[in-house]
Amino acid sequence: MSVAPLEALSLDQLRRRRSVKWRAYPDDVLPLFVAETDFALAPAVEATLAEAVALGDTGYTPDDPGIRDAYIGFARRRYGQEIDRSGIASTGDVMMGVVEILRQVTSPGDRVIITPPVYPPFSICIPEAGAVVEPVPLVEGEDGFALDLDGIEAAFAAGARAMLLCNPHNPTGTVHARDTLARLAEIALAHGAVIVSDEIHAPLARPEAGFTPFLAASADAARVGYAVTSASKAFNLAGLKCALMLTADDATTAVVRGMPEEVTWRTGLFGALAGTAAFSPESDPWLDSLQAAIRANHVLLADLLSEHVPAARYRIPDAGYLAWVDLSAKGWGDDPATRILREAKVALHHGPHFGQGGAGHVRINVGCSAEVLTEAVRRIGDLG
Ligand SMILES: Cc1ncc(COP(=O)(O)O)c(C=O)c1O
Repeated sequence: MSVAPLEALSLDQLRRRRSVKWRAYPDDVLPLFVAETDFALAPAVEATLAEAVALGDTGYTPDDPGIRDAYIGFARRRYGQEIDRSGIASTGDVMMGVVEILRQVTSPGDRVIITPPVYPPFSICIPEAGAVVEPVPLVEGEDGFALDLDGIEAAFAAGARAMLLCNPHNPTGTVHARDTLARLAEIALAHGAVIVSDEIHAPLARPEAGFTPFLAASADAARVGYAVTSASKAFNLAGLKCALMLTADDATTAVVRGMPEEVTWRTGLFGALAGTAAFSPESDPWLDSLQAAIRANHVLLADLLSEHVPAARYRIPDAGYLAWVDLSAKGWGDDPATRILREAKVALHHGPHFGQGGAGHVRINVGCSAEVLTEAVRRIGDLG
């Protein structure tokens, strides 16, 4: 059954927003950088938050505001994953969850693998936990990007203690195959290492891409893995501060339960209430229509690039609303986003910030209207 794509808000409405996407630059700049989207909230999320506002329900978050059961249902419906209630704990946001897990599973100075090009804060949160970043870049083949399992094995063999996996991967939108994840888990187990899987973009994996939650990839993965996820990317709730830390084994669950109580106290009540509504079955049709809008925009971006910026290299991703575009052939240097901002007045994310493999690239957020995307690419094309 085909689903009608969601319509984005108008630019006039969006410019009244006070989030960073709409306040970082003056009005002559089209912002397609930070991972916020330009759609109205899902109706169930809006109703839940409106009721909380009407009640002045703005206090602390109780132990379980309903989000555990909502997420258990969501994971079952959308991924076919079974999660035990005891393996779900909340915190303020995904990066907070990652840092707190790394604090528990590494010692100061331990090396933690990341796979660039990757979400830039990964390189910041590992030192925040006292560990050291060890890059093992993705490899690019005919079918897109993939983990370098041999390189990861060598890094574990040389002493790396953990890996921060991005599943699906930001910025390439790669959905790692079940076999790859199972092999990764096997390697980690053989070296006594841990995998922390950031699954924040998973709700926006295309159904045909066959997203596998890391903890469900194999029995080994359930043993060595921690996952952190949130409704915040798909449902645009980043400011409300709620993420879930997931475990699937008694030992890993005990690690999360052993964290200082403050870690769960940092969960925002609005985030937990909104996340509960987002993960409920009532929000599934909205999520499907968001997926349709994003898919249409990725296809539109491919068409626009071939018309206005034919030297660009771009592969439509399997997940999320971020597009990783190689502009090296334009000869605009390592960081084309700087020139694009200055001369085309379009704000994109800077490729080099994503580490190795990022030079000459930009990341474009297509979670906007077709009109905004069209105007942005037209402006970039006008640079010649
Ligand atoms: C892969 C990835 N992880 C984490 C985050 C940030 O999530 P949070 O705001 O919940 O820390 C983002 C934001 O775009 C992201 O892309």
